[in-house]
Amino acid sequence: MLFSHNMPLLRAIKCNIVSPRIPFHLYNRNYCHSGAGESFVPFDVLVSQRRNEARRSLLVEVAGLPSSTDLHQVCSQYGAVRKMFHYTTRHSNVNKEMILVEFDEAESLEKALQATRSPPTERIIPVHSPFVWLSASRTASSNRKKTNISSTTDIMQETVPSNEELQLQLSQSRDLSEQIQKSYECQKLTELGSRLRFFTCRQVEVALSGLFPQACVLPFGSSVNSFGRINCDLDMILELFDVTNQDTTQRLVFQAKKSRSAANPRITMQRHMEVISDILDNFVPGCSQVRKILAARVPIIKYRQDLTDMECDLSMANRSGFYMSEMLYLYGSMDKRVRPLVFAIRKWAKDRHVTSPYAGRWVTNFSLTLLVLFYLMRTSPPVIPPLQMLIKLAGDDDVRTAESINCTFLRDLKILTASDNKQSLEDLLRGFYEFYDKFDFKERGLSVVRGDDFVKPEHNALYIQNPLERELNVSRNVTLEELERLRSEITHARYRLEEDTEHIEEQQGQQPWGLLSLWGASHKPQAHRGLNASIDWQEVFHIQEQETPPTPDKQLNVSPVHAATKSNEKVQSNGEKTRNNSKFQPVERTKMLKEELIMPSDLNGLVTKLKRNVVQKNANGKKNKKQKFNKVMYKW
Ligand code: CTP
Ligand code: MG
Repeated sequence: MLFSHNMPLLRAIKCNIVSPRIPFHLYNRNYCHSGAGESFVPFDVLVSQRRNEARRSLLVEVAGLPSSTDLHQVCSQYGAVRKMFHYTTRHSNVNKEMILVEFDEAESLEKALQATRSPPTERIIPVHSPFVWLSASRTASSNRKKTNISSTTDIMQETVPSNEELQLQLSQSRDLSEQIQKSYECQKLTELGSRLRFFTCRQVEVALSGLFPQACVLPFGSSVNSFGRINCDLDMILELFDVTNQDTTQRLVFQAKKSRSAANPRITMQRHMEVISDILDNFVPGCSQVRKILAARVPIIKYRQDLTDMECDLSMANRSGFYMSEMLYLYGSMDKRVRPLVFAIRKWAKDRHVTSPYAGRWVTNFSLTLLVLFYLMRTSPPVIPPLQMLIKLAGDDDVRTAESINCTFLRDLKILTASDNKQSLEDLLRGFYEFYDKFDFKERGLSVVRGDDFVKPEHNALYIQNPLERELNVSRNVTLEELERLRSEITHARYRLEEDTEHIEEQQGQQPWGLLSLWGASHKPQAHRGLNASIDWQEVFHIQEQETPPTPDKQLNVSPVHAATKSNEKVQSNGEKTRNNSKFQPVERTKMLKEELIMPSDLNGLVTKLKRNVVQKNANGKKNKKQKFNKVMYKW
């Protein structure tokens, strides 16, 4: 049943009656006309609300949708069921019908898991986890009859428009602004998508909870920064214990083993990740294709979670990536035009092969998003303020430090007023292409911190200052060739849109126009962006010569292991960074990487996500400054 043409649909099925519902994933989105407004939900609140849902949720594989009533009755024995979502996932040519059940209380989930039985154990090791399946056992059904609980919870189903449906909707739009808005509504991460991402994080927490009851796994990147598409990957950080909440006056202290490599925290972390990846690989249901990429500066474990249908990247000691996501979320919340515009430009870049799912010498979605934000700071009047304004407005509650990086900035946007800029989405999109068509990439770098450009301090083709680690360039990987491609696509897009304006009446309804003409598949996908790509792995990894490996077996077998750094930086013993511009030629390692047949996607974000054991000078200065603007609306 269709009830809206321009967004993922949510269906509620109750007693076989299919009835429309208001898609409640909208409840935490900002629908004010401008500015974050009263409906703004701080990132911390959003994350803890989602984590809370995940702690009360159970994922059940069922025979089919009709089993939902049965499942509801089974679950209701343990406590009230609040919501149920149905979806189908396909793995190895087999469809699996899945239902995500949310209980009212976490205790109900505990009771359900305590009552859950193990499968026959001849060939498998049963694991206590919130991933279960519903058997057709007679015993279970007679128990249910006794409880006599009726099914009253709706089963929610989301229907995502196909490409063809999206194209139809866009071609029927009134204007380009409506197209941009519709395309955002259709492609943004849905309620279920968001829940499943937090639930997938929860699974890792539960798996490690025996040894580490405080283990915390947080999503970051596009899963939470509000720029994530349906099916985006899941970036996660794992923290094994909570250092912040320790009561140092307590007399009892846990016994613990001293790490054999305590002198080198990086090797210690690699060893821990070895163990964690083995746990995921051997015990955790649904985890497949587990690969360790520990040679990176920030080691990651990549795997697929088949039951929630997503690609996962797990890292440790990467909290600043989480705060970076919070910063992007804040910018997305500041003005209702930011997210649709970023979506349209990310989709354009994807279709025109400016970006790629594989990491390499091209612009990433993260860099592209910073380009859009920078442009929105430079419109007249600006749509969004520079980051330094959020830093100035930060109060005591906003102070955060991660991996020695100062991540302090205003978190509650309610004190900001709306921008005076009233341009339409269409004008902003055109403006984006015009702005970058003229931008002097050769000489100038971009800073979203100051909202201004500056003379490039290095000879990288594209220089986008890292907003949190200001001395780094997030687009250091981009080659001149790729920058030229980006620029020529920008020029092309600009003229395409101008042509559209001239011939709009003839084109509407006949030829692709607006976003459809802009996106239109570009030249054939480039070979160098695929599996057999001739990627300059050395450039991608920024491989260094010094380090020695932890244990070589099963990890990406780059022996000896070479640390990757951002921007060729080395940290001296005194904590100062120096540039290491010396070129080295790890030909053999490059070869080995290729021979391992590691997908280029394995490198996803290896450069960009590689974190930072470097000491950051206090770039934000007065971080503990008392918040002065609490009660006043701050006009910027
Ligand atoms: N990140 C960072 N510093 C960088 C690069 C990335 O802190 N130099 C963080 C950002 O928060 C970014 C996240 O790592 O959003 C994940 O990076 P990536 O997966 O490359 O980008 P996404 O935003 O998740 O986009 P995509 O949909 O392409 O995965
Ligand atoms: Mg990502």
